[in-house]
Amino acid sequence: MSNYHIKHLEEYYQVYRKSIREPENFWEEVAEEHFVWRKKWDKVMSWDFSKPEIKWFEGAKLNITENCIDRHLATRGDKTAIIFEPNNPDEEAQHISYRQLYHKVNKFANVLKDHGIKKGDRVCIYVPMIPELAISLLACAKIGAIHSVVFAGFSSRALSSRINDCDCKMVITSDGSFRGTKSIDLKGIVDEALENCDGVETVLVVNRTGGDVVMTEGRDKWLQPLLDAASDELEAEVMDAEDPLFILYTSGSTGQPKGMVHTTAGYMVYTAYTFKNVFQYREDDVYWCTADIGWITGHSYIVYGPLANGATTVMFEGVPHYPDFGRFWQIVEKHKVNQFYTAPTAIRALAKQGAELVEKYDLSSIKVLGSVGEPINEEAWHWYNDVVGKKKSPIVDTWWQTETGGIMITPIPFVTPTKPTYATLPFIGIQPALMDENGLEQKGNQVEGRLCIKFPWPSIARTIWGNHQRYKDTYFSAYENMYFTGDGALRDEVGYYRITGRVDDVIIVSGHNLGTAPIEDAINEHPAVSESAIVGFPHDIKGSALYGFVTLKEVGESRVHDNLRKEINQLISDRIGPIAKLDKIQFTEGLPKTRSGKIMRRILRKIAENDTSNLGDISTLLNPEVVQDIMDNSL
Ligand code: WTA
Repeated sequence: MSNYHIKHLEEYYQVYRKSIREPENFWEEVAEEHFVWRKKWDKVMSWDFSKPEIKWFEGAKLNITENCIDRHLATRGDKTAIIFEPNNPDEEAQHISYRQLYHKVNKFANVLKDHGIKKGDRVCIYVPMIPELAISLLACAKIGAIHSVVFAGFSSRALSSRINDCDCKMVITSDGSFRGTKSIDLKGIVDEALENCDGVETVLVVNRTGGDVVMTEGRDKWLQPLLDAASDELEAEVMDAEDPLFILYTSGSTGQPKGMVHTTAGYMVYTAYTFKNVFQYREDDVYWCTADIGWITGHSYIVYGPLANGATTVMFEGVPHYPDFGRFWQIVEKHKVNQFYTAPTAIRALAKQGAELVEKYDLSSIKVLGSVGEPINEEAWHWYNDVVGKKKSPIVDTWWQTETGGIMITPIPFVTPTKPTYATLPFIGIQPALMDENGLEQKGNQVEGRLCIKFPWPSIARTIWGNHQRYKDTYFSAYENMYFTGDGALRDEVGYYRITGRVDDVIIVSGHNLGTAPIEDAINEHPAVSESAIVGFPHDIKGSALYGFVTLKEVGESRVHDNLRKEINQLISDRIGPIAKLDKIQFTEGLPKTRSGKIMRRILRKIAENDTSNLGDISTLLNPEVVQDIMDNSL
């Protein structure tokens, strides 16, 4: 069907208009022609952003794994579904065919069932980028268990709070993980986390590093012998369209991480449809997204979107700089990658190493380059375009979020003319709006505002696990009848969007969302600290880095700053993970506050950015005198 694969700009506009005018007809056609259903829906969609309640394909019955695996067996059984490229370049890559994947998922799913996991149970997955990670997601989906993947770089504290938030009965992990020259003791982290998680009955352990682990009798089990003994056949659980498929945590500007809940049918339809178009995937292409499956990008565009299209998707275990900064390009050459999808942080880090490491490898297979996770700056865009893409591979700068499930604003390669730093046009079915502070929509072009979406799309998250009120407050209360993204954006003279960055207290460091509140809470646990405030400041590789302003209980203690800095970063590492460490820590005598006692982050942000010419009126502050002092001592 032509609507499934858009091939030129006129067609984009035509399909886009149809998707807006007749969303139900449009999505119904896509769903009907490109997926397998046990039963079709009674109603394509219903929505009420004031509650908020959103449903897609209500009444339909399906299992997403039948769409991602089973239906391909007849025509693509021997086709490679997953290419696993290990951390160590000397270790052989694995090619897992669709048929092998089918049997592996069945075995794994049988093991889950044998351990009492049933439809609706939550299973925490804390596994590095090895095939078992993708397989464990699919095994959960096969039996209707809800997976909650926690990125295997989070600390034990962060892990235990996520396990408890959604009452996981089981944890899947590995003995350890390889990252460059390091190996990390993941099982040890799980053991520590589980000291505070009473609900976990079973821990399944994948053998990856062969490191020493302690197995708790009755609770911990090696996975391999269980898989060996399990049947490789299993009937899929029949799910309702709106049954939860997974929970994935993302940072908020305040409080604990939010467990975003994605449901089955809408998520499947939208991730598959976007994958096909945004990467212009063709049958024999090899597609590689460098993200970790611990983030939404990996869920939607390493696992579900590609597999629903019968694609070959690469999973890379390692890091871009091991054994050297040419590793990404070596992998592109080795597997003849056609679509390459990565983050601006990686692009900046690689660009810094110069062009020689890229030119050493044959990148002629590349057709499409993708970028995701944070705004891509002009310099990085050009380097990506010129050095990697040789000016012939369009860059798709894809804007989207954990909450949106799939790509929302993006060029379609070979269809939408690109423009550096612009995510360009809304994807099919997406209706963006830019709002001013007074809640007025900024219509027309050459306007700027807060980015909202006016109408639901199939893969929007349906709620926050256990806290629907927070879902409503965070996303649907700022503007009536709108989903508020938390980002600012502008629309240029031809209607292209450029995302300008977060307008709330979420800071994106190396493409990872970090909320300020949990980091400040961690710092404030230090006995010498009285209070703290975190802001972002520009960083040439990470995009943004964290700057902490910390007030100590006793001024005299500022003599021992260096030790304190180390201790504070250690605390942050323990509580959240190394990704949340601060680049700069300034000890201050006080933090600028409003008369009602609220910390004025705006002022701190300007100081951190070294942009103090226009601090605004500070005379209304409770303590204007601290501002000068902070400026004088800024780092
Ligand atoms: C930011 C990642 C500019 C944005 C898929 C968003 C981007 C947040 C882009 C979501 C982009 C993502 N250009 N900014 N192409 N893509 N962002 O939930 O601030 O990890 O709100 O989802 O990343 O991050 P998340």
